[in-house]
Amino acid sequence: MGIGKHPDDSLEVMNPQPLIDNFGREINYVRISVTDRCDFRCVYCMSEEMTFLPKAQTLSLEEILVLARNLVACGVTKIRLTGGEPLVRSGVVGLVKSIRELPGLKELCMTTNGSRLQDLAAPLKNAGLDRLNISLDSLDADRFRELTRTGRLGQVLAGISAARAAGFEHTKLNAVILRGRNDDEVLPLVDYALENQLDLSFIEEMPLGVITEHSRAEAFIASEELRTIIGSRYPLQPAADVTGGPSRYYRIPGHNNRIGFISPHSHNFCGDCNRVRVTTEGRLLLCLGNEHSLDLRSVLREGDQSEAAVDARVQVALHQAMTIKPEKHHFNLDEEPQVLRFMSATGG
Ligand code: 5AD
Ligand code: SF4
Repeated sequence: MGIGKHPDDSLEVMNPQPLIDNFGREINYVRISVTDRCDFRCVYCMSEEMTFLPKAQTLSLEEILVLARNLVACGVTKIRLTGGEPLVRSGVVGLVKSIRELPGLKELCMTTNGSRLQDLAAPLKNAGLDRLNISLDSLDADRFRELTRTGRLGQVLAGISAARAAGFEHTKLNAVILRGRNDDEVLPLVDYALENQLDLSFIEEMPLGVITEHSRAEAFIASEELRTIIGSRYPLQPAADVTGGPSRYYRIPGHNNRIGFISPHSHNFCGDCNRVRVTTEGRLLLCLGNEHSLDLRSVLREGDQSEAAVDARVQVALHQAMTIKPEKHHFNLDEEPQVLRFMSATGG
């Protein structure tokens, strides 16, 4: 689309404008997938045999930093590094440090499966990472192994402790609950979160990628049902918190932690969407549930490689992308998935 050919490119860089889409939503939160690889194979996320991207197709750490720099220049204040599993990518701690130093960035977070936190929590904290989200779907070692196919529960629980010891606060657990697989773990997970001063979000499973282990429609449990289960033991009071994410939060009197529900099916949260994603391949994804995207990798790699020229091209491309951000997603569990990429390629 002639990106980078515009005579006013240099002006864009000197005076970057905020990223506002056609529906008036300002984009200030970006999730960047730093790898599509993972040491786990969660049943709802991946197939057992995965083919990962060849290195040449994935962004280098330097390219990710260039994107982050330009996103922040255009008003992005929050970045989340995701995967796959971000901590399997070597050099990720250095990337955290470089991104955290970008002037204007308010918060740098990471979503991880926790398997490597025992070693990496302290280095990440020292590099300036602000907050962690850790995925945890089961507190039963055998069940955990079944759901992740390769994961070890003990390692993740030790990773969660290491995060706390390293000084991370407001760590949040993410749990995907599937009927017939781990729906009896809702209350144990809430208990664990309360005992360990962790926030906890329950995520409805989304039809991203083709999986074979279960029928997504049969395994689906709406957030409302989870609230009823939790309500049988704890009074849940709606919290007023807005975090810039899609979670709806509740509090339990007497506890500081929040219990959140991310409900892409039962509550369409697109109206106040403030975020976009960058895939491992450098595709800017405008919406989790749609294919609308822009190839930032080509924008980075094709043309004049001077810093000013690259920055100008990237910023023009980011603004052009705003015009194709869809209004909302439509997930339908009874149909074939419309979005064929897995969450691991998408960036959590
Ligand atoms: N639906 C819902 N959540 C998913 N995750 C991965 N794949 C899916 C899916 N298809 C979750 C992981 C992790 C977060 C990044 O996304 O459990 O907590
Ligand atoms: Fe890995 Fe996270 Fe996907 Fe599980 S959900 S396979 S931990 S990327």
